[in-house]
Amino acid sequence: MSTSATITTSKGNLELPVHSGTVGPDVIDIRKLYGATDMFTYDPGFTSTASCESKITYIDGDQGVLLHRGYPIEQLAEHSNFMEVAYLLLRGELPSKDEYEKFVHTISRHTMVHEQLAMFYRGFRRDAHPMAIMCGVVGALSAFYHDSTDINDPYQRMVASHRMIAKIPTIAAMAYKYSVGQPFLYPDNSLSYTGNFMRMTFGVPAEPYVVDPIVEKAMDRIFILHADHEQNASTSTVRLAGSSGANPFACIAAGIACLWGPAHGGANEAALNMLREIGRPERIKEYVAKAKDKNDPFRLMGFGHRVYKNYDPRAKVMQKTAAEVLERLNVKDPIFDVARELEQIALSDDYFVEKKLYPNVDFYSGIILSAIGFPTTMFTVLFALALTVGWIAQRNEMIEDPNQKIGRPPHHYTGAAQRDYVPVEKR
Ligand code: ACO
Repeated sequence: MSTSATITTSKGNLELPVHSGTVGPDVIDIRKLYGATDMFTYDPGFTSTASCESKITYIDGDQGVLLHRGYPIEQLAEHSNFMEVAYLLLRGELPSKDEYEKFVHTISRHTMVHEQLAMFYRGFRRDAHPMAIMCGVVGALSAFYHDSTDINDPYQRMVASHRMIAKIPTIAAMAYKYSVGQPFLYPDNSLSYTGNFMRMTFGVPAEPYVVDPIVEKAMDRIFILHADHEQNASTSTVRLAGSSGANPFACIAAGIACLWGPAHGGANEAALNMLREIGRPERIKEYVAKAKDKNDPFRLMGFGHRVYKNYDPRAKVMQKTAAEVLERLNVKDPIFDVARELEQIALSDDYFVEKKLYPNVDFYSGIILSAIGFPTTMFTVLFALALTVGWIAQRNEMIEDPNQKIGRPPHHYTGAAQRDYVPVEKR
Protein backbone atom coordinates (compact mmCIF):
# COMPACT_ATOMS: atom_id res chain seq x y z
CA MET A 1 0.00 0.00 0.00
CA SER A 2 1.40 3.38 -0.95
CA THR A 3 0.44 6.42 1.14
CA SER A 4 1.92 9.88 1.52
CA ALA A 5 3.18 12.22 4.24
CA THR A 6 2.68 15.97 4.26
CA ILE A 7 5.41 18.24 5.43
CA THR A 8 4.65 21.86 6.31
CA THR A 9 7.36 24.45 5.69
CA SER A 10 7.48 28.24 5.33
CA LYS A 11 7.00 27.63 1.60
CA GLY A 12 3.74 25.73 2.15
CA ASN A 13 2.80 22.07 2.27
CA LEU A 14 4.68 19.37 0.44
CA GLU A 15 3.24 15.92 -0.08
CA LEU A 16 5.88 13.22 -0.08
CA PRO A 17 5.35 9.58 -1.11
CA VAL A 18 5.57 6.86 1.56
CA HIS A 19 6.87 3.42 0.54
CA SER A 20 6.20 0.21 2.42
CA GLY A 21 8.83 -2.52 2.68
CA THR A 22 8.05 -6.23 2.95
CA VAL A 23 8.28 -5.91 6.74
CA GLY A 24 9.53 -3.12 8.98
CA PRO A 25 8.84 0.60 9.06
CA ASP A 26 7.56 2.54 6.04
CA VAL A 27 9.87 5.15 4.56
CA ILE A 28 9.09 8.73 3.58
CA ASP A 29 10.67 9.38 0.20
CA ILE A 30 12.28 12.80 0.65
CA ARG A 31 14.18 12.93 -2.64
CA LYS A 32 12.15 15.93 -3.84
CA LEU A 33 12.41 17.80 -0.52
CA TYR A 34 15.44 19.96 -1.25
CA GLY A 35 14.29 20.94 -4.73
CA ALA A 36 10.85 21.96 -3.44
CA THR A 37 11.78 23.59 -0.12
CA ASP A 38 15.49 24.51 -0.20
CA MET A 39 15.79 22.48 2.99
CA PHE A 40 17.76 19.37 3.89
CA THR A 41 16.96 16.90 6.64
CA TYR A 42 19.46 16.66 9.50
CA ASP A 43 20.16 13.15 10.79
CA PRO A 44 23.69 12.56 12.14
CA GLY A 45 24.46 8.84 12.28
CA PHE A 46 21.45 8.07 10.03
CA THR A 47 19.25 7.11 12.99
CA SER A 48 16.05 7.93 11.05
CA THR A 49 17.24 7.66 7.47
CA ALA A 50 17.28 4.67 5.10
CA SER A 51 20.30 5.21 2.87
CA CYS A 52 19.28 2.62 0.27
CA GLU A 53 16.78 -0.07 -0.67
CA SER A 54 17.93 -3.63 0.09
CA LYS A 55 16.61 -7.19 -0.15
CA ILE A 56 19.44 -8.88 1.73
CA THR A 57 19.01 -8.56 5.50
CA TYR A 58 16.22 -7.50 7.81
CA ILE A 59 16.61 -6.57 11.47
CA ASP A 60 13.85 -5.85 13.94
CA GLY A 61 15.87 -4.35 16.77
CA ASP A 62 12.94 -4.12 19.18
CA GLN A 63 12.04 -7.78 18.82
CA GLY A 64 15.64 -9.03 18.47
CA VAL A 65 15.05 -10.50 14.99
CA LEU A 66 17.68 -10.93 12.28
CA LEU A 67 16.74 -12.43 8.90
CA HIS A 68 18.98 -13.09 5.89
CA ARG A 69 16.88 -13.21 2.71
CA GLY A 70 13.98 -14.00 5.06
CA TYR A 71 15.65 -16.84 6.97
CA PRO A 72 16.10 -16.36 10.77
CA ILE A 73 19.74 -16.26 11.88
CA GLU A 74 19.09 -18.92 14.56
CA GLN A 75 17.97 -21.41 11.86
CA LEU A 76 20.92 -20.62 9.63
CA ALA A 77 23.36 -20.95 12.56
CA GLU A 78 21.82 -24.29 13.55
CA HIS A 79 21.26 -25.97 10.18
CA SER A 80 23.31 -24.22 7.50
CA ASN A 81 27.00 -23.54 6.97
CA PHE A 82 28.99 -20.47 6.03
CA MET A 83 29.38 -21.33 2.33
CA GLU A 84 25.64 -21.90 1.98
CA VAL A 85 24.91 -18.61 3.77
CA ALA A 86 27.41 -16.87 1.48
CA TYR A 87 25.53 -18.22 -1.54
CA LEU A 88 22.23 -17.13 -0.02
CA LEU A 89 23.43 -13.58 0.63
CA LEU A 90 24.98 -13.23 -2.82
CA ARG A 91 22.31 -14.89 -4.93
CA GLY A 92 19.12 -14.42 -2.90
CA GLU A 93 18.06 -18.07 -2.55
CA LEU A 94 19.39 -21.18 -0.83
CA PRO A 95 21.31 -23.28 -3.36
CA SER A 96 20.25 -26.68 -4.70
CA LYS A 97 22.75 -29.49 -4.00
CA ASP A 98 24.35 -29.01 -7.45
CA GLU A 99 24.49 -25.23 -7.11
CA TYR A 100 26.06 -25.56 -3.68
CA GLU A 101 28.74 -28.00 -4.84
CA LYS A 102 29.58 -25.84 -7.84
CA PHE A 103 29.85 -22.74 -5.66
CA VAL A 104 32.09 -24.45 -3.09
CA HIS A 105 34.26 -25.81 -5.92
CA THR A 106 34.59 -22.35 -7.49
CA ILE A 107 35.51 -20.70 -4.19
CA SER A 108 38.07 -23.39 -3.39
CA ARG A 109 39.75 -22.80 -6.79
CA HIS A 110 40.47 -19.17 -5.89
CA THR A 111 41.98 -19.64 -2.43
CA MET A 112 45.61 -19.01 -3.36
CA VAL A 113 46.99 -15.49 -3.54
CA HIS A 114 49.51 -14.15 -6.03
CA GLU A 115 53.03 -15.05 -4.83
CA GLN A 116 54.06 -11.42 -4.97
CA LEU A 117 51.30 -10.48 -2.55
CA ALA A 118 53.25 -12.34 0.14
CA MET A 119 56.01 -9.70 -0.20
CA PHE A 120 53.67 -7.06 1.15
CA TYR A 121 53.65 -8.71 4.56
CA ARG A 122 57.40 -8.31 4.93
CA GLY A 123 57.02 -4.55 4.67
CA PHE A 124 55.13 -4.51 7.98
CA ARG A 125 56.70 -4.58 11.42
CA ARG A 126 56.20 -7.94 13.16
CA ASP A 127 54.19 -6.21 15.88
CA ALA A 128 51.83 -4.49 13.42
CA HIS A 129 48.15 -4.91 14.30
CA PRO A 130 46.76 -7.55 11.90
CA MET A 131 43.91 -5.17 10.98
CA ALA A 132 46.52 -2.66 9.76
CA ILE A 133 48.00 -5.47 7.65
CA MET A 134 44.53 -6.44 6.39
CA CYS A 135 43.76 -2.86 5.26
CA GLY A 136 47.04 -2.72 3.36
CA VAL A 137 47.07 -6.19 1.81
CA VAL A 138 43.39 -6.26 0.80
CA GLY A 139 43.82 -2.79 -0.73
CA ALA A 140 46.84 -4.14 -2.59
CA LEU A 141 44.67 -6.81 -4.24
CA SER A 142 43.41 -3.96 -6.44
CA ALA A 143 46.78 -4.01 -8.15
CA PHE A 144 46.71 -7.75 -8.91
CA TYR A 145 43.43 -8.71 -10.53
CA HIS A 146 42.91 -6.26 -13.36
CA ASP A 147 40.66 -8.65 -15.27
CA SER A 148 37.86 -8.43 -12.69
CA THR A 149 37.57 -4.72 -11.97
CA ASP A 150 35.01 -3.57 -14.56
CA ILE A 151 32.16 -3.02 -12.15
CA ASN A 152 29.61 -2.72 -14.98
CA ASP A 153 30.32 -6.22 -16.29
CA PRO A 154 28.25 -8.78 -14.29
CA TYR A 155 30.73 -11.57 -15.11
CA GLN A 156 33.70 -9.57 -13.80
CA ARG A 157 31.69 -8.61 -10.73
CA MET A 158 31.05 -12.29 -10.05
CA VAL A 159 34.71 -13.24 -10.52
CA ALA A 160 35.84 -10.41 -8.21
CA SER A 161 33.27 -11.58 -5.62
CA HIS A 162 34.50 -15.19 -5.76
CA ARG A 163 38.13 -14.10 -5.57
CA MET A 164 37.53 -11.87 -2.58
CA ILE A 165 35.56 -14.50 -0.61
CA ALA A 166 38.10 -17.21 -1.43
CA LYS A 167 41.24 -15.21 -0.70
CA ILE A 168 40.21 -13.41 2.47
CA PRO A 169 40.84 -16.49 4.73
CA THR A 170 44.27 -16.95 3.15
CA ILE A 171 45.11 -13.28 3.66
CA ALA A 172 43.81 -13.33 7.26
CA ALA A 173 45.75 -16.50 8.13
CA MET A 174 48.91 -14.97 6.61
CA ALA A 175 48.45 -11.87 8.78
CA TYR A 176 48.43 -14.13 11.83
CA LYS A 177 51.37 -16.25 10.67
CA TYR A 178 53.42 -13.14 10.02
CA SER A 179 52.77 -11.84 13.54
CA VAL A 180 54.02 -15.06 15.15
CA GLY A 181 56.96 -15.51 12.80
CA GLN A 182 55.80 -18.81 11.32
CA PRO A 183 55.86 -19.71 7.60
CA PHE A 184 52.75 -19.10 5.51
CA LEU A 185 50.79 -22.24 4.66
CA TYR A 186 49.26 -22.73 1.22
CA PRO A 187 45.53 -23.50 1.21
CA ASP A 188 44.37 -27.13 1.17
CA ASN A 189 41.33 -27.29 -1.08
CA SER A 190 40.30 -30.72 0.21
CA LEU A 191 39.18 -29.04 3.46
CA SER A 192 36.05 -27.01 4.08
CA TYR A 193 36.25 -23.21 3.80
CA THR A 194 36.49 -22.92 7.58
CA GLY A 195 38.65 -26.04 8.08
CA ASN A 196 41.11 -24.71 5.52
CA PHE A 197 41.27 -21.38 7.36
CA MET A 198 41.91 -23.16 10.69
CA ARG A 199 44.73 -25.18 9.14
CA MET A 200 46.34 -22.15 7.46
CA THR A 201 46.18 -20.34 10.82
CA PHE A 202 47.20 -23.00 13.32
CA GLY A 203 48.96 -25.61 11.19
CA VAL A 204 52.72 -25.75 10.61
CA PRO A 205 54.54 -27.34 7.65
CA ALA A 206 56.44 -29.70 9.97
CA GLU A 207 53.44 -31.87 10.88
CA PRO A 208 49.90 -32.67 9.75
CA TYR A 209 47.11 -30.54 11.19
CA VAL A 210 43.88 -32.29 12.11
CA VAL A 211 40.83 -30.01 12.14
CA ASP A 212 38.66 -30.62 15.22
CA PRO A 213 35.09 -30.94 13.87
CA ILE A 214 33.47 -29.29 16.92
CA VAL A 215 35.82 -26.32 16.83
CA GLU A 216 35.43 -26.11 13.03
CA LYS A 217 31.64 -26.07 13.42
CA ALA A 218 31.86 -23.36 16.11
CA MET A 219 34.13 -21.24 13.93
CA ASP A 220 31.85 -21.72 10.94
CA ARG A 221 28.90 -20.63 13.08
CA ILE A 222 30.78 -17.52 14.19
CA PHE A 223 31.33 -16.71 10.51
CA ILE A 224 27.60 -17.17 9.83
CA LEU A 225 26.70 -14.85 12.72
CA HIS A 226 28.94 -12.12 11.29
CA ALA A 227 28.22 -12.55 7.58
CA ASP A 228 25.97 -9.50 7.16
CA HIS A 229 24.22 -6.97 9.33
CA GLU A 230 22.48 -4.67 6.86
CA GLN A 231 23.73 -1.06 6.73
CA ASN A 232 26.15 -1.07 9.68
CA ALA A 233 29.03 1.43 9.62
CA SER A 234 31.45 -0.74 7.62
CA THR A 235 28.83 -1.92 5.13
CA SER A 236 27.73 1.68 4.59
CA THR A 237 31.41 2.51 4.06
CA VAL A 238 31.74 -0.21 1.42
CA ARG A 239 28.59 1.06 -0.32
CA LEU A 240 29.78 4.67 -0.15
CA ALA A 241 33.24 3.78 -1.49
CA GLY A 242 31.66 1.62 -4.20
CA SER A 243 29.18 4.33 -5.18
CA SER A 244 31.97 6.21 -6.96
CA GLY A 245 32.71 3.14 -9.08
CA ALA A 246 35.85 2.35 -7.03
CA ASN A 247 37.83 -0.85 -7.50
CA PRO A 248 36.00 -3.76 -5.76
CA PHE A 249 38.99 -4.83 -3.68
CA ALA A 250 39.66 -1.23 -2.57
CA CYS A 251 36.03 -1.00 -1.38
CA ILE A 252 36.54 -4.03 0.87
CA ALA A 253 39.74 -2.45 2.24
CA ALA A 254 37.65 0.64 3.12
CA GLY A 255 35.16 -1.61 4.96
CA ILE A 256 38.00 -3.24 6.90
CA ALA A 257 39.31 0.19 7.96
CA CYS A 258 35.89 1.18 9.30
CA LEU A 259 35.31 -2.16 11.02
CA TRP A 260 38.50 -1.74 13.04
CA GLY A 261 36.96 0.93 15.32
CA PRO A 262 36.19 -0.11 18.94
CA ALA A 263 32.55 0.99 18.65
CA HIS A 264 32.13 -1.49 15.78
CA GLY A 265 34.25 -4.56 14.99
CA GLY A 266 36.86 -3.80 17.62
CA ALA A 267 34.29 -4.33 20.38
CA ASN A 268 34.88 -8.08 20.84
CA GLU A 269 38.55 -7.40 21.55
CA ALA A 270 37.51 -4.63 23.95
CA ALA A 271 34.87 -6.88 25.58
CA LEU A 272 37.36 -9.65 26.28
CA ASN A 273 39.93 -7.18 27.63
CA MET A 274 37.23 -5.77 29.91
CA LEU A 275 36.24 -9.24 31.18
CA ARG A 276 39.89 -10.02 31.88
CA GLU A 277 40.30 -6.73 33.69
CA ILE A 278 37.25 -7.50 35.85
CA GLY A 279 38.79 -10.93 36.41
CA ARG A 280 36.51 -12.24 39.18
CA PRO A 281 32.78 -11.99 39.94
CA GLU A 282 33.34 -9.93 43.15
CA ARG A 283 34.55 -7.00 41.03
CA ILE A 284 31.52 -6.86 38.72
CA LYS A 285 29.57 -4.38 40.87
CA GLU A 286 32.44 -1.89 40.72
CA TYR A 287 32.46 -2.01 36.90
CA VAL A 288 28.70 -1.80 36.60
CA ALA A 289 28.85 1.35 38.76
CA LYS A 290 31.57 2.80 36.51
CA ALA A 291 29.43 2.11 33.41
CA LYS A 292 26.49 3.94 34.98
CA ASP A 293 28.55 6.94 36.11
CA LYS A 294 27.89 9.86 33.72
CA ASN A 295 31.32 11.35 34.56
CA ASP A 296 33.18 8.15 33.71
CA PRO A 297 33.71 7.42 29.98
CA PHE A 298 33.78 3.66 30.72
CA ARG A 299 31.11 1.57 28.98
CA LEU A 300 30.34 -2.09 29.37
CA MET A 301 31.86 -3.41 26.17
CA GLY A 302 29.73 -6.00 24.40
CA PHE A 303 26.59 -4.28 25.72
CA GLY A 304 24.21 -2.07 23.80
CA HIS A 305 23.61 -1.76 20.10
CA ARG A 306 22.51 0.95 17.74
CA VAL A 307 19.74 -1.25 16.33
CA TYR A 308 18.97 -3.96 18.91
CA LYS A 309 16.95 -2.68 21.81
CA ASN A 310 16.40 -6.29 22.83
CA TYR A 311 18.65 -9.33 23.17
CA ASP A 312 20.87 -9.58 20.07
CA PRO A 313 19.79 -12.97 18.62
CA ARG A 314 23.41 -13.66 17.68
CA ALA A 315 24.50 -13.27 21.31
CA LYS A 316 22.22 -16.15 22.35
CA VAL A 317 23.82 -18.47 19.77
CA MET A 318 27.26 -17.24 20.87
CA GLN A 319 26.60 -18.03 24.51
CA LYS A 320 25.61 -21.61 23.63
CA THR A 321 28.60 -21.99 21.31
CA ALA A 322 30.95 -20.68 24.00
CA ALA A 323 29.75 -23.39 26.42
CA GLU A 324 30.24 -26.11 23.74
CA VAL A 325 33.74 -24.97 22.77
CA LEU A 326 34.97 -24.56 26.35
CA GLU A 327 33.73 -28.04 27.18
CA ARG A 328 35.25 -29.60 24.06
CA LEU A 329 38.64 -27.95 24.61
CA ASN A 330 38.42 -28.56 28.35
CA VAL A 331 39.09 -24.88 29.03
CA LYS A 332 38.10 -23.70 32.50
CA ASP A 333 38.08 -19.98 31.83
CA PRO A 334 36.90 -18.01 34.87
CA ILE A 335 35.97 -15.08 32.65
CA PHE A 336 33.11 -17.16 31.19
CA ASP A 337 31.63 -17.16 34.71
CA VAL A 338 32.33 -13.43 35.01
CA ALA A 339 30.55 -12.87 31.66
CA ARG A 340 27.47 -14.89 32.64
CA GLU A 341 27.20 -13.20 36.00
CA LEU A 342 27.78 -9.74 34.55
CA GLU A 343 25.02 -10.43 32.03
CA GLN A 344 22.59 -11.43 34.80
CA ILE A 345 23.40 -8.36 36.90
CA ALA A 346 23.19 -5.96 33.97
CA LEU A 347 19.93 -7.45 32.71
CA SER A 348 18.25 -6.79 36.04
CA ASP A 349 19.81 -3.37 36.71
CA ASP A 350 17.46 -0.40 36.16
CA TYR A 351 20.05 1.60 34.17
CA PHE A 352 20.51 -1.16 31.58
CA VAL A 353 16.83 -2.13 31.56
CA GLU A 354 15.64 1.45 30.98
CA LYS A 355 18.20 2.12 28.26
CA LYS A 356 17.49 -1.28 26.71
CA LEU A 357 21.13 -2.32 26.83
CA TYR A 358 21.49 -6.07 26.18
CA PRO A 359 24.54 -8.21 25.42
CA ASN A 360 25.48 -7.95 21.74
CA VAL A 361 27.24 -10.47 19.49
CA ASP A 362 30.64 -9.38 20.78
CA PHE A 363 30.00 -10.17 24.41
CA TYR A 364 30.68 -13.92 24.17
CA SER A 365 32.58 -14.23 20.89
CA GLY A 366 35.92 -13.18 22.42
CA ILE A 367 35.73 -15.99 25.00
CA ILE A 368 35.26 -18.58 22.24
CA LEU A 369 37.96 -17.17 19.99
CA SER A 370 40.40 -16.95 22.85
CA ALA A 371 39.69 -20.59 23.83
CA ILE A 372 40.32 -21.67 20.23
CA GLY A 373 43.72 -19.97 20.39
CA PHE A 374 43.30 -16.65 18.59
CA PRO A 375 45.06 -13.63 20.11
CA THR A 376 42.70 -10.70 20.74
CA THR A 377 44.25 -8.72 17.88
CA MET A 378 42.89 -11.33 15.44
CA PHE A 379 39.27 -11.04 16.59
CA THR A 380 38.34 -8.17 14.30
CA VAL A 381 40.16 -9.87 11.44
CA LEU A 382 37.81 -12.85 11.81
CA PHE A 383 34.85 -10.48 11.77
CA ALA A 384 36.20 -8.89 8.58
CA LEU A 385 36.66 -12.32 7.01
CA ALA A 386 33.00 -13.21 7.56
CA LEU A 387 31.58 -9.79 6.77
CA THR A 388 33.41 -9.72 3.44
CA VAL A 389 30.54 -11.85 2.12
CA GLY A 390 27.95 -9.28 3.24
CA TRP A 391 30.02 -6.36 1.97
CA ILE A 392 30.24 -7.95 -1.46
CA ALA A 393 26.55 -8.86 -1.60
CA GLN A 394 25.61 -5.30 -0.56
CA ARG A 395 28.00 -3.67 -3.00
CA ASN A 396 26.77 -5.83 -5.88
CA GLU A 397 23.18 -5.03 -4.96
CA MET A 398 24.01 -1.32 -4.98
CA ILE A 399 25.63 -1.49 -8.42
CA GLU A 400 22.58 -3.32 -9.80
CA ASP A 401 20.13 -0.81 -8.26
CA PRO A 402 18.75 1.55 -10.96
CA ASN A 403 18.30 4.26 -8.27
CA GLN A 404 21.96 4.13 -7.28
CA LYS A 405 23.84 7.44 -7.23
CA ILE A 406 27.23 8.43 -5.93
CA GLY A 407 26.86 8.87 -2.15
CA ARG A 408 27.21 12.54 -1.35
CA PRO A 409 25.43 13.51 1.89
CA PRO A 410 24.98 17.25 2.46
CA HIS A 411 25.74 18.73 5.88
CA HIS A 412 24.21 21.27 8.22
CA TYR A 413 26.78 24.09 7.99
CA THR A 414 27.37 26.07 11.19
CA GLY A 415 30.80 27.56 10.38
CA ALA A 416 31.73 31.13 9.48
CA ALA A 417 29.72 32.91 6.78
CA GLN A 418 31.68 34.40 3.85
CA ARG A 419 34.35 36.86 5.01
CA ASP A 420 37.43 38.53 3.49
CA TYR A 421 40.95 37.23 3.88
CA VAL A 422 42.96 39.14 6.51
CA PRO A 423 46.75 39.57 5.88
CA VAL A 424 48.87 38.03 8.63
CA GLU A 425 50.16 41.41 9.96
CA LYS A 426 46.58 42.49 10.60
CA ARG A 427 45.45 39.39 12.51
N1 ACO B 1 27.59 0.80 28.80
C1 ACO B 1 27.05 1.80 29.50
N2 ACO B 1 26.18 2.72 29.02
C2 ACO B 1 25.87 2.59 27.70
C3 ACO B 1 26.39 1.57 26.88
C4 ACO B 1 27.28 0.65 27.48
N3 ACO B 1 27.82 -0.33 26.76
N4 ACO B 1 25.91 1.70 25.63
C5 ACO B 1 25.10 2.76 25.64
N5 ACO B 1 25.07 3.31 26.90
C6 ACO B 1 24.25 4.46 27.32
C7 ACO B 1 24.82 5.76 26.78
O1 ACO B 1 25.74 6.35 27.67
C8 ACO B 1 23.59 6.59 26.56
O2 ACO B 1 23.21 7.11 27.82
P1 ACO B 1 22.47 8.54 27.92
O3 ACO B 1 21.16 8.37 27.21
O4 ACO B 1 22.33 8.76 29.38
O5 ACO B 1 23.38 9.54 27.24
C9 ACO B 1 22.53 5.57 26.16
O6 ACO B 1 22.97 4.30 26.71
C10 ACO B 1 22.38 5.42 24.64
O7 ACO B 1 23.66 5.15 24.09
P2 ACO B 1 24.17 5.70 22.69
O8 ACO B 1 25.67 5.71 22.68
O9 ACO B 1 23.47 6.99 22.38
O10 ACO B 1 23.62 4.61 21.72
P3 ACO B 1 24.15 4.30 20.29
O11 ACO B 1 23.06 3.54 19.61
O12 ACO B 1 24.67 5.51 19.62
O13 ACO B 1 25.42 3.37 20.58
C11 ACO B 1 26.88 1.52 20.79
C12 ACO B 1 25.49 2.02 20.36
C13 ACO B 1 27.99 2.35 20.13
C14 ACO B 1 27.04 0.07 20.33
C15 ACO B 1 26.98 1.63 22.35
O14 ACO B 1 25.96 0.86 22.95
C16 ACO B 1 28.36 1.17 22.87
O15 ACO B 1 29.32 1.95 22.88
N6 ACO B 1 28.47 -0.13 23.29
C17 ACO B 1 29.74 -0.65 23.72
C18 ACO B 1 30.58 -1.01 22.50
C19 ACO B 1 30.09 -2.25 21.79
O16 ACO B 1 29.82 -3.27 22.42
N7 ACO B 1 30.01 -2.17 20.46
C20 ACO B 1 29.62 -3.31 19.62
C21 ACO B 1 28.44 -3.01 18.77
S1 ACO B 1 27.97 -4.48 17.91
C22 ACO B 1 28.93 -4.50 16.53
O17 ACO B 1 29.48 -3.55 16.05
C23 ACO B 1 29.10 -5.83 15.93
